[in-house]
Amino acid sequence: MTSLEGRVIIVTGGGRGIGREHSKFLASHGAKVVINDLGGGTDGSGNSAEAAQSVVDEILNDGGEAVANYDSVTEFSGAENIINSAVEAFGDLHGVVNNAGILRDHMLVSMTEDDFDSVIGVHLKGTFAVSHFAAKYFRDQAKSGNIKQRTIVNTSSAAGLHGNVGQTNYSAAKAGIAAMTIVHSQELERYGVRVNCIAPIARTRLTLQTPGLNQVMRKSIFDPGNISPLVGYLSADGCQFNGQVFSVYGGSVGIYQGWSIAEEVSNETLWTLDELTQSIEQLPRFVPVHSQLVAIVKAASS
Ligand SMILES: NC(=O)c1ccc[n+]([C@@H]2O[C@H](COP(=O)([O-])OP(=O)(O)OC[C@H]3O[C@@H](n4cnc5c(N)ncnc54)[C@H](O)[C@@H]3O)[C@@H](O)[C@H]2O)c1
Repeated sequence: MTSLEGRVIIVTGGGRGIGREHSKFLASHGAKVVINDLGGGTDGSGNSAEAAQSVVDEILNDGGEAVANYDSVTEFSGAENIINSAVEAFGDLHGVVNNAGILRDHMLVSMTEDDFDSVIGVHLKGTFAVSHFAAKYFRDQAKSGNIKQRTIVNTSSAAGLHGNVGQTNYSAAKAGIAAMTIVHSQELERYGVRVNCIAPIARTRLTLQTPGLNQVMRKSIFDPGNISPLVGYLSADGCQFNGQVFSVYGGSVGIYQGWSIAEEVSNETLWTLDELTQSIEQLPRFVPVHSQLVAIVKAASS
């Protein structure tokens, strides 16, 4: 059986959008939740305690257990502080949900260094930094005999797994997060840690600001609460998966096959340019991909 009862779980970016739903779902199933949120704008500017604190207040009102943390995941010292605040508040740490995110969409020709660095900073470095300090804690606990099933759930995106115009920074970060998931699942298995990843689609301030998506996102399959049961399962004691990336929206949960060789041509000896030019003709020009973007198109036309 899977259980979240008594598990101490950090949700980064847990004050708004999808993270807010994760925080409330986990707490409603008996988890003790650390809600980390910097409380900034969609582009990462500014900060406020309100986002994290309002979710904590809601959870406490409903009889659950939660504390707030306002550090930025982009700072190494902040990431360490997030892990420490869970242990200080609740005496242990069982799971991390790396969810914090921002957007700075621009076409490649107009994307600035700052646009690139800030998005990579929150998503890719933020996931690395929080996972790094969680992993240190998990390793120390395993070595001292405090053996528990521990979990990390990362957040990728269809933009990272399939690519998306105008999102060089975001797509690169989200593809990197999927890759980190595989590496970390292999490195941390020995300490009893399962590391998995989700690629959600949901209505939040990030998707509502995307041109063309506002109307489609009003449909109930894009309610952000639809994402959280999977995160609950992947954070629970008893989760059976490790190193996997899941697609999730509405009532749909899919498991990604990842990059895999669809077809190949081969040669016994070193290819000449002419030989390769001839043989490579046998490979398809496009390999069909089962993408989440299909769900958005379907929802738009129904
Ligand atoms: N909404 C979607 O359809 C969708 C699709 C794919 C992936 N995602 C991913 O899901 C995650 C949540 O996004 P959302 O749509 O709920 O957006 P959101 O803007 O509603 O929530 C993101 C939260 O992260 C917080 N945050 C930003 N920078 C932070 C930092 N440095 N430290 C701590 N907190 C920080 C923000 O304050 C905000 O509360 C993101 O990683 C996003 O890329 C969302």
